[in-house]
Amino acid sequence: MTTDDADAHAHDPSCRGDAAFQLCLRGKVIWLYGLSGAGKSTLARYAAQRLRPEGRQVLLDGDELRSGLCRGLGYTVEDRTENVRRAAELARLLSRQGCLVLVALMTPLRSMRELAREIIGDALITIHLRCDHATCAARDVKGLYREAAAGRLPHFPGTNMVFEGAADDELSIDTGRLPIEECLGQLLRLAEPEF
Ligand SMILES: Nc1ncnc2c1ncn2[C@@H]1O[C@H](COP(=O)(O)OP(=O)(O)OP(=O)(O)O)[C@@H](O)[C@H]1O
Ligand SMILES: [Mg+2]
Repeated sequence: MTTDDADAHAHDPSCRGDAAFQLCLRGKVIWLYGLSGAGKSTLARYAAQRLRPEGRQVLLDGDELRSGLCRGLGYTVEDRTENVRRAAELARLLSRQGCLVLVALMTPLRSMRELAREIIGDALITIHLRCDHATCAARDVKGLYREAAAGRLPHFPGTNMVFEGAADDELSIDTGRLPIEECLGQLLRLAEPEF
């Protein structure tokens, strides 16, 4: 961002207050990944409201991307990788214009997270929402686990496609055991020092 850009943001009324001012100056991408039902969409929605009450936050949710920008892509490793690539390119564009971008996308393989990192760079924070398969299957918000158990859903991470979780030294939140409020608190604590 140039000095002129920063000055323009500084005079933007939506950038009042220290935290909001910093957010406006530096875009960030917070990328939540995890199994279906782990709580990515739920926490991303809450976090977007709390991190940027003034606006300028953008939520890129897997389901919404697939209904438009990523329509036509399937669920193989190749298609999921392309899905991640498009989401990452869009997140990069938006973050470079000062937006806080929250991405809620399963992103099951480490290679996919690495691709996002290659595209976005240091502005990216990836956080694994850790929730075991049994808990996600019990939630079964979209009925996908029932479909997968019946053999009608190929390439479903955690069931018949591998899901690679976070290593011990990577950020994660235990959404399988902790209540939503506690998970949101942890997410905000992980994200806020970055600003
Ligand atoms: N600690 C928690 N964090 C997040 N969600 C929780 C938690 N505990 C229970 N839930 C519930 O789990 C469900 C998570 O659904 P959500 O749609 O957010 O999952 P998702 O990760 O976006 O799945 P998908 O990949 O299929 O889109 C919600 O019904 C939410 O209320
Ligand atoms: Mg979701």
